Amino acid sequence: MDENLKFISTCAVGIEEFLIQELKEFNFKNIKKEPFNFRGRVLFEAENFEDVIRHIYRTRISNRIWYFLKIFKLTEISNWKDIIYEYIYSLDSDEFLDEYTSFAIRTKRRGKHPFYSYDVEKVAGQAVIDRFLNKKKKRPPVDLENPDLIIRVDVSTDNTVICGIDLVGYESLHKRGYRKYEHPAPIKGTIASAMLRLTEYEKEKHLLDPMAGGGTIPIEASMMAINMPSQFLKKQKLHILKIKKFEREKILEILDEEDKKIIDDTFFIYAGDKIDKHLEGAIENTKSLRVHNKIRFYVEDIKNLKYFFKNKKFDIIATNPPYGIKVAYPEEVKRVYRDFFKTLKEILKDKGRIALLTPRRDWVHEYAYGFGFEIKKEIKVYHGKLDTGIFFIEGKK
Ligand SMILES: C[S@@+](CC[C@H](N)C(=O)[O-])C[C@H]1O[C@@H](n2cnc3c(N)ncnc32)[C@H](O)[C@@H]1O
Repeated sequence: MDENLKFISTCAVGIEEFLIQELKEFNFKNIKKEPFNFRGRVLFEAENFEDVIRHIYRTRISNRIWYFLKIFKLTEISNWKDIIYEYIYSLDSDEFLDEYTSFAIRTKRRGKHPFYSYDVEKVAGQAVIDRFLNKKKKRPPVDLENPDLIIRVDVSTDNTVICGIDLVGYESLHKRGYRKYEHPAPIKGTIASAMLRLTEYEKEKHLLDPMAGGGTIPIEASMMAINMPSQFLKKQKLHILKIKKFEREKILEILDEEDKKIIDDTFFIYAGDKIDKHLEGAIENTKSLRVHNKIRFYVEDIKNLKYFFKNKKFDIIATNPPYGIKVAYPEEVKRVYRDFFKTLKEILKDKGRIALLTPRRDWVHEYAYGFGFEIKKEIKVYHGKLDTGIFFIEGKK
């Protein structure tokens, strides 16, 4: 058994706590938030790669996971090139590389340095090539676009250099593979999952997204309800299958085991939107997961839901209202927030839970308190380039 392998898991800035919850559920140890001053990252330890492969397949919050190889400090910043070259040259990349494995270095920096990220990528890349040339007398192919292996060499604010092997590759795990219809303002599956975690969603609960757009929140919830791994649709394309160190057949066996945990169960998820084109798109998005007959879709304006649902009440309402940022009349969008909170009083169970994602903090505050709700939690998240909040609100009584 491998001892104390270290990994770094990355997520959208602001939802690290949910990633930590997830890592704890996987029984990973020594979990540390924001290592080396990098926000949106969590360091953890695992006993073996198998558990981490399961985690990559299942995680709903993480964007990418890298196997942590080495850290070192740029003690003399003026000498950064030599230090990086020397350490990267000494990096044991041999079990990951061969003459057929194309590679690329990727660098992210936090803070100010007398160099750019691409300078680091050049120096580190040369060190990997030189080591390989000296040892194997061959040159590993470099592919900056779509490499088989991504070696991470990041530099933090205090000039710490963090090196690892990216186990996720080109396409971040927030992409699930179900999005056939592109809504003009979708949220990421990872953020939707964080919202659902906040409400403690489980399949027995009656959940509504009344402004569902392309359906991200209901789709993520349905995957949770049937215990489907987040990467189910990308199984054959997972980057980990391309990494030389791992045996493809063995990995597929592990993933098959995870698929056996999927359950064919009933759940109570409702998804609505006032625009039928979006709703049709949302249905399209659920087809590959075969949950389109189980989610209850409808077209209706939020202001009519009191009549539409008659006496039905929900345990959880999780939604992502329009932002009204690029529109001529934001006041019209503001009215949607008023209608939303007014309607909540009619369709939310006592002590029901609400999760909202929006950059419109002032509108949420005005109407939540205006209609007698209390905002229990407000989490800042960066969603695209927007400074957004996930609000957690609880119904009264
Ligand atoms: C930000 S988008 C939601 C995107 C969705 N979370 C996704 O990932 O695809 C907001 C949605 O609210 C819908 N909407 C706006 N006003 C509404 C209203 N009064 N009643 C119901 N839906 C409304 C819009 O049509 C739009 O699809």
